[in-house]
Amino acid sequence: MRNILVTNALPYANGPIHMGHLLGYIQADIWVRAMRAMGHDVTYVCADDAHGTAIMLRAEANGISPEQQIANVQKEHIRDFDGFGVHFDHYDSTHSDTNRARASEIYVKNREAGNIAVRPVSQLFDPEKGMFLSDRFIKGTCPKCKAEDQYGDSCEVCGTTYNATELLNPKSTLSGATPVEKSSDHYFFKLPNFGEYLQKWTRDEGRLPVSIANKLDEWFEAGLADWDISRDAPYFGFEIPDAPNKYFYVWVDAPIGYMSSFENYIKTKRPELNFDDFWTKDSDKEVYHFIGKDIVYFHALFWPAMLEGANYRTPSGLFVNGFLTVNGQKMSKSRGTFIKAETYLQHLNPEYLRYYFASKLSDKVEDSDLNLDDFVQKVNSDLVGKVVNIASRCAKFINTKFDNKLSATCAEPELVQSFIDAGDSIAKAYEAREFSTAIREIMALADKANQYIDEKKPWALAKVEGEEQQVHNVCSVGINLFRQLAVYLAPVLPTLAAQVQEFLKLDRFDFASAKTALVDHEIALFQPLMQRVDPKAVAAMVDASKDSLAAAAEPVKVEKKKEKKVEKKPEPKVGEAEIIGIEDFMKVDLRVAEVLEAATVEGSDKLLQLTLNVGEAEPRNVFSGIREFYQPEDLKGKLVVMVANLAPRKMRFGISNGMVLAAGNGEGVWVISPESGAKAGDKVS
Ligand code: 2FM
Ligand code: ZN
Repeated sequence: MRNILVTNALPYANGPIHMGHLLGYIQADIWVRAMRAMGHDVTYVCADDAHGTAIMLRAEANGISPEQQIANVQKEHIRDFDGFGVHFDHYDSTHSDTNRARASEIYVKNREAGNIAVRPVSQLFDPEKGMFLSDRFIKGTCPKCKAEDQYGDSCEVCGTTYNATELLNPKSTLSGATPVEKSSDHYFFKLPNFGEYLQKWTRDEGRLPVSIANKLDEWFEAGLADWDISRDAPYFGFEIPDAPNKYFYVWVDAPIGYMSSFENYIKTKRPELNFDDFWTKDSDKEVYHFIGKDIVYFHALFWPAMLEGANYRTPSGLFVNGFLTVNGQKMSKSRGTFIKAETYLQHLNPEYLRYYFASKLSDKVEDSDLNLDDFVQKVNSDLVGKVVNIASRCAKFINTKFDNKLSATCAEPELVQSFIDAGDSIAKAYEAREFSTAIREIMALADKANQYIDEKKPWALAKVEGEEQQVHNVCSVGINLFRQLAVYLAPVLPTLAAQVQEFLKLDRFDFASAKTALVDHEIALFQPLMQRVDPKAVAAMVDASKDSLAAAAEPVKVEKKKEKKVEKKPEPKVGEAEIIGIEDFMKVDLRVAEVLEAATVEGSDKLLQLTLNVGEAEPRNVFSGIREFYQPEDLKGKLVVMVANLAPRKMRFGISNGMVLAAGNGEGVWVISPESGAKAGDKVS
């Protein structure tokens, strides 16, 4: 038996749980249940991530204290996780005394080990609000392309990244005031002290997905920098020891919340566990964090370094999931695909979603798509059409003709044994987080079970005199096969499994308990187990997501990590641009593209999203900063010229895969079109 501590990324206490969050929570919950079903001792904890400017401002906007704000949101989060069967042993908050003590201790140990530095930092300051502004709270004109209304870190129109102090005409989004530059002392964690340690750590067997370790190598090559871990008051968080009015940046005490939630769990619910057994350097216990790919940087660099610096053990592994799209696109409030957990639960059975996600998830860091048509089809065909169908076809005979008793001997021992034997490989797939493989194997067994029942036709035999024993045998085998499937699906479908356990009158439902056939065994009266997904309920959920979310305010985005700064030069006048050779020019692959679709981008008044046919198998997605000058319908069907070999650029709204050429002079923008006769994919030179 292994002793394992599992955590999920802590959700911010300023917004609702939605489908995107649920992918990672459901993944972890399935793994925890599966590992328990295999006999391991697993503790599963989480907490709300309660600190930071965003939460402080959200509370202010709601006219309540930050403490009240985080208490309200915590209730909603717990309700939503419960609703989806995501069952933490303990759910805490990073705003706890235990977390304050642990964060202070880890900081002080690092300070004593020489891992903290203090130096002044000059930043933009809002004189009206009396606070320093992070990039998200400053808007101004892009110093490169002169687009207005751009955030303090990067331009949505031209993609340039810069320092907030470089923005032209900057304004605080909090008060509208013009920010002033001001200096104050900041505390830094000396991440470079851990460069060698981390390079090795990230390559340790099983620690990280290889694709992530490769990505981290790029950061190592670029060189690690000191990490700014302090924020000046006013800030909702923990004051740094011996540094009045300086607070820990939210990302310092957030992961420490994993430890303190576990500590509070032991204190309040499981005193026989020992905190140090898990967190001491030479611990033989395992610790795993399930996280999204957007927060790898914090978990694979800062977190192990802070732990190592304070002489604690580091996580055994990080399990990283990709993003969720809905119907192939980023979740969108206007399309009704930004679906809150609460809204889903008002319309659909949570186990449908758990099953659908399981059928998609693997150990790879890949994005997953919730395609709503496929969702309806898969759940109905697999769960209702295949699995539940086995029980409903067999149970009624056992209930009505055989006094609720399964036959005294197993009529198909080999068939049942083959289902039992499959348990090992299904368990292995769960353990390796290859859930889609586990589901495929289980559904192959379900097909086999249905095939058996189709061949034996108990409903026909039941009409033939003298065939009673045969009906009893076939239906008892069918129920046994169904039992194996339900045990294997239990980590994914805990509610269904509990119903089946009750129906089969079984004391245990773990993998080890399902190694022999049930014979001469009494079962209960069969109750319907799962309804088909009604596509109308899905449509109603999408509709309700449009309604409920149109009115809801966009959650305030918490400070994000800085991208590497790009050196900027002023725009050259004609004749002043750098001279390049023909060979450089020839590297640019200019192509004619047909605009298949053009759409506005929710949340941006600068961008249009273009779907372009460049003569390739798949159309390209390109964001173009021409919204002010073009309506989508002006462009649809038009031929344009694009740079087709530009490296894909990640923007706030998705990946832009190319650039459309346009002329511009500060007053207008004109998209460049070839004369008629050209067609999509033609080379432009
Ligand atoms: O990205 C987020 O949503 C963070 N609240 C995750 C924190 S995980 C951990 F470090 F606390
Ligand atoms: Zn720009």
